Amino acid sequence: MSSINYSEKIPNNVNLSEDRTLQRALEQWQPNYLQWWDDMGPEGSQNFDVYLRTAVSVDPQGWAQFGHVKMPDYRWGIFLNPGDKDRKIHFGDHLGEPAWQEVPGEHRANLRRIIVTQGDTEPASVEQQRHLGLTCPSQYDLRNLFQVNVEEGRHLWAMVYLLHKYFGRDGREEGEALLERRSGNVDNPRILQAFNEKTPDWLSFFMFTYFTDRDGKFQLCALAESSFDPLARTTKFMLTEEAHHMFVGESGVGRVIQRTCQVMNELKTDDPARLRAAGVIDLPTIQRYLNFHFSVTIDLFGADQSSNAAIFYSSGLKGRYEEGKRSDDHILKGQSYKVLDVQGGMLVEKDVPMLNALNEVLRDDYIKDSVGGVERWNKVIEKAGIPFRLKVPHKAFHRQIGTLAGVKVSPEGHHVTDHEWNAKVEEWLPTDTDRAFVASLMGRVVEPGKFANWIAPPALGINRQPVDFEYIRFA
Ligand SMILES: [Fe+2]
Ligand SMILES: [Fe+2]
Repeated sequence: MSSINYSEKIPNNVNLSEDRTLQRALEQWQPNYLQWWDDMGPEGSQNFDVYLRTAVSVDPQGWAQFGHVKMPDYRWGIFLNPGDKDRKIHFGDHLGEPAWQEVPGEHRANLRRIIVTQGDTEPASVEQQRHLGLTCPSQYDLRNLFQVNVEEGRHLWAMVYLLHKYFGRDGREEGEALLERRSGNVDNPRILQAFNEKTPDWLSFFMFTYFTDRDGKFQLCALAESSFDPLARTTKFMLTEEAHHMFVGESGVGRVIQRTCQVMNELKTDDPARLRAAGVIDLPTIQRYLNFHFSVTIDLFGADQSSNAAIFYSSGLKGRYEEGKRSDDHILKGQSYKVLDVQGGMLVEKDVPMLNALNEVLRDDYIKDSVGGVERWNKVIEKAGIPFRLKVPHKAFHRQIGTLAGVKVSPEGHHVTDHEWNAKVEEWLPTDTDRAFVASLMGRVVEPGKFANWIAPPALGINRQPVDFEYIRFA
């Protein structure tokens, strides 16, 4: 079992004590990180004892230890999946060559950019979720929020480790910059737009962890294929934590839906006004939130045609989702892929070189994966006997990046005029009134076992604890 050494100042499984240069760099960064957590981490929570999971080993069967800890004392550190010294590159122009243990000079700039872009999302989401604890629907949910937050903090550590260890002085500068950018800040924003949006309420939080943390999963999966072995090993371990984040989102939205359906049946109505008066979130509003988060998230995969995507793949920096399980030649030269285009007011498919379309390939894999949970949400509605179904919108809906940027497309995938768009947009995307209504439901419920009116309790507690367990001991 590959366990993590917690006796050192910076917990790790990379023999940090034998690498003085790295140790010094990280020890300099650590107080700045803690300062950032203090400034931008979960508001007003530094003294709470939170029932958190801490990773203690990194093998696939690795177990996690649960216990009450104060978040600033969480054991952040450097944890890599065990390596395979004979690992070979399995895609791109270097196929069959040994994986890289150091950064090749010609790929240095691109690798640094990939690592910084991934790293930037981690503290960004903590910043976006900073105020949510003040309006939690239960202790159980509050604990889940904090678990996600500390793990995103650890993901930042993972990327900073790579920057410090392999990129020398500019890596250290990037490590500092990751603590200086701020989500939504006009002067120094986070790199990707979805990470500058607000996460103002818990429905947004659950949608974010379902959809946007799943983008994280797909990016990490693509990086876990990388020829740069330390990046592959680091991201593999991050993926084990990401699964819980998506669980928080999927089960959270599911419980909101369950509660709404219950009240719909009690009142025998689907009238949003009556349901809102009863203090639950009507299904059309949930659909609009879904439309928003889905469309903003699929933009994160980048332009549908991208020469950078081709370079990242051919040079072996970033693979496809489940690269190793695919049966093609893993070089992709001369192959094509279908992307969307707008011609004469119609959405049409066109063939483009696959290497240039790899962002779209990853986006399509993501879309397939994200539909699964929406179907499970529909099961909840179906079980309640209600004839309403949630749907992910067409991938051309509400896009800001690539060929489809700014093209007006309905959730069903019809190209519409500006006039039609303006007439319908309030049915398609959350309105100010929707957001104000959802915000009005956000109170603070912290008594063990109690839940806000707008959300059903979970079926099970965390780590087989009862649902009314004291997940947080308030100071
Ligand atoms: Fe993360
Ligand atoms: Fe995450």
